[in-house]
Amino acid sequence: MSLKELISELDIVLTPDALDYLKGLSENAEELLRTAASNSESFVITKEMLADATEKIRVKNKALEFEVSPSEQFNPIAKNVKSQLKILDKYDVSNKSLSVGNINDFLLLFRNRMERIRKILKGEGHISKFGIVKVSDIKQFAVNRAARVIVMIREKKITKNGHILLIVEDETGTLNALSIKSTASFEDANELIEDEVVALDGHTSNSLFIVDSITWPDIKIEKRKKKVVPVDVNIAFLSDLHIGSKYFREEDFIRFLKFLNGEGGEKQKAGKIKYIIIAGDLVDGIGIYPTQEEQLTTKNIYTQYEIFSEYIKKIPDYIEVVISPGNHDAVRLAEPQPHLGEEFTAALSDKKNVHFVSNPAWLEIHGLKILVYHGTSIDTWVSRLPSLRRGYENPEKIGIEMLKRRHLSPFYGDKPLAPEHFDYMLIDEVPDILHFGHVHKNAYGNYRGVLIINSGTFQGITDYQVKQGHVPTPAQVPIYNIASGKIETLNFSEENL
Ligand SMILES: [Fe+2]
Ligand SMILES: [Fe+2]
Repeated sequence: MSLKELISELDIVLTPDALDYLKGLSENAEELLRTAASNSESFVITKEMLADATEKIRVKNKALEFEVSPSEQFNPIAKNVKSQLKILDKYDVSNKSLSVGNINDFLLLFRNRMERIRKILKGEGHISKFGIVKVSDIKQFAVNRAARVIVMIREKKITKNGHILLIVEDETGTLNALSIKSTASFEDANELIEDEVVALDGHTSNSLFIVDSITWPDIKIEKRKKKVVPVDVNIAFLSDLHIGSKYFREEDFIRFLKFLNGEGGEKQKAGKIKYIIIAGDLVDGIGIYPTQEEQLTTKNIYTQYEIFSEYIKKIPDYIEVVISPGNHDAVRLAEPQPHLGEEFTAALSDKKNVHFVSNPAWLEIHGLKILVYHGTSIDTWVSRLPSLRRGYENPEKIGIEMLKRRHLSPFYGDKPLAPEHFDYMLIDEVPDILHFGHVHKNAYGNYRGVLIINSGTFQGITDYQVKQGHVPTPAQVPIYNIASGKIETLNFSEENL
């Protein structure tokens, strides 16, 4: 069929540069034009649409290059293990967003935060020698009377004498609390964040409450043991694939997919993988940062997700895949983020093993509680807390702060926050695993029995990241064995072979 006949059959019009683009091709012009036409709702086909279709066809062909059916020598034991995956709906914001973003919504969010952290601070391990009183009670007290108040930090200032003045509040009122320089509470007061909830032990002194010590809603059991489950299967943790970016490590990711299918080394480890969790930034998105456009292989968000889906289809069906969004994904930027919409996930709708969840999300795998969070707040943790200035190099330290403060992102004002009436970013229960990404740096930690995992990335290092102070570790996948409680990082980058 001639080009002219094809154009008339498809009932489309080509822009002049699109026509030049097509004429410059030696083969497959028909497939390309058909793909571009089926992608477009408009009858006008531009050069960009053709470039986008080229990328889609290229990836599809690449994904078809390897067999989905595992080879004969590959007998994955995970195939015979019954899946035990629960997605805790209570903590999933998808389809139940209540907020319209007005002041009343913020009030309800902060009230919910206050109530739930208060419950933790009143619970086991946080007992005070003083009685817990309300802010309004303190105002009636005589001078020098000791008490504990549970409050939200409204404002933190350094006084001209170098003390820290905290304006704090609960439902009954506002209080000026002072942490005096060179006293025991001062160092801790320096680490306080506005809008977090803590307990202050102190004493009254005229119009001020002098802070003697600060208690966070921390995990109190210091010797809490890591939980293991007597089922010999692995969980693979991923994040930050950034499909659509020209820095996406396509060959490395395909190597990982082949590994899952028993093609390549480490067949035994591959065969034990029963679960894969992906903590956001599945694609690179569009318009996320100023110079992004030049760094994309495809500028169409739908195509980015179609390519993502093409790869996910290559994961064997006996593996449960849980997918949560991040700040590069096509959901609202304000956290908590709902799961990806059907318009992006349609290609995977018949895959019973693929589950789209919110960000953050809570999972239970064979009874292990896993908190999955993309990690967008890490930027704010690094800029706000002096002790976390090098947080991009050691993201596990940020994980520790999140657990200590029982909050993934207590901040207000830096990154968009959706004022839901339930604070989805709060950590009521102590998870067994805290999984996050966003900083593209593999990192691990153990804090009071909680395993902290930052699952790195499959994106190469961009100039933008270097400028931001990131130190990425691409193509390294943490594999966790739930029976031994051991974590191992497998490197899928070419340099490692
Ligand atoms: Fe990312
Ligand atoms: Fe991110």
